[in-house]
Amino acid sequence: MKTERQTQAPQLRTRWLHDSGGLIWHLRALRYRNTLWSGFRSEVKGWLQSWQPPTDKLIIIGPSAGYTLDASFLQRWQEIIVLEPDPLARRLLRWRYADARWRFENLDVLSDINALAMLAKGFAGHAILFSNVLGQITPRNAAASWAWKQELRKALAGHYWASYHDVISTARPPDAEPASAPPPATGLDEILVSYWHGGELEIVDHCTYDLGANARLRNDSGSAYCIWRLLPRQYHLVEWCSSEPAADQIMVAGLATEKDC
Ligand SMILES: C[S@@+](CC[C@H](N)C(=O)[O-])C[C@H]1O[C@@H](n2cnc3c(N)ncnc32)[C@H](O)[C@@H]1O
Repeated sequence: MKTERQTQAPQLRTRWLHDSGGLIWHLRALRYRNTLWSGFRSEVKGWLQSWQPPTDKLIIIGPSAGYTLDASFLQRWQEIIVLEPDPLARRLLRWRYADARWRFENLDVLSDINALAMLAKGFAGHAILFSNVLGQITPRNAAASWAWKQELRKALAGHYWASYHDVISTARPPDAEPASAPPPATGLDEILVSYWHGGELEIVDHCTYDLGANARLRNDSGSAYCIWRLLPRQYHLVEWCSSEPAADQIMVAGLATEKDC
C-alpha cells in the first residue's frame, strides 16, 4: 500500500544559490548574454522557431529568467507553465517577458522519473521544453545515464517535447565550426572531431548525448549541435532534440488513445 508521502508530487525547494542557477547564473547572464552568448542565443532562437508542436500550451523546465529564450517564441503560447526553483528567476522572467501568459507551478519533475511521468499525465495537452537543464541533472555514468534517458523517453512518449542541453564542456576552444551539419546517428566522437581537430581534448561528459534518440534531430536544415562559449575559458557542446508522440501514444485529456488496427 502506498503511503501519502509516496503518492504526493515532489515539490520544488526555493533555491537562491545553485550549481547551475541562482544568483551566479544571473550575474553571468548580465555580463555575457549580449557578448559571448549571443551566437548561442541566436542558434537556440532558430531551434525554437522550427519547433511547432500542435498545441498552444507549454511547460518550460529550468528557464531561469529566460536568458536563452526569446519574446517571439514565448508569445506563441496561450499558457506557459514554469517549473523553476529560483525565486529571483521567476520574478525576472515575469518582468522581462511581461506579455507572456505565465503560470508558475512547484512540481519538481527532475527529482525522479515518476515525477516526470506524473507531469506528463497531469498535463496531457502541453508540449514540454527542457531549457538547458538536463545536462546538469543526468546521472554522470554511462550505464545509469543510458537507463535514465530511456526512462525519460518512456515517461514522455505521449508528448511533444524538446530539449537543449550540455553534452560536454571543456576549457579548450574549438578549432572550427563543421562545414556541414553532422549526419543523423553520428557518434559523439565524430561530432567532437568535427569541432576539435586533433590533440588532446579534456572534457566533462554531461552524459546527455543522443538524449533524443528516436526523436527527429534537426539535421536537415541545420545542425542539432552548437558551441556555447559560456565563460571566456569554458566551451559547451549543446545538443537540441525534439520528439513527437507515436501515433498510438497521443495523450488526449489524460487518456492515452489507442490506435485502431
Ligand atoms: C544551466 S541553468 C539554465 C537556465 C536557462 N535555461 C538559461 O539557459 O539561461 C539551469 C536552470 O535550471 C533550474 N533548475 C535546477 N533544478 C531544477 C528543477 N529541479 N526543476 C526545474 N528547474 C531547475 C536552475 O534554477 C536554473 O535556472
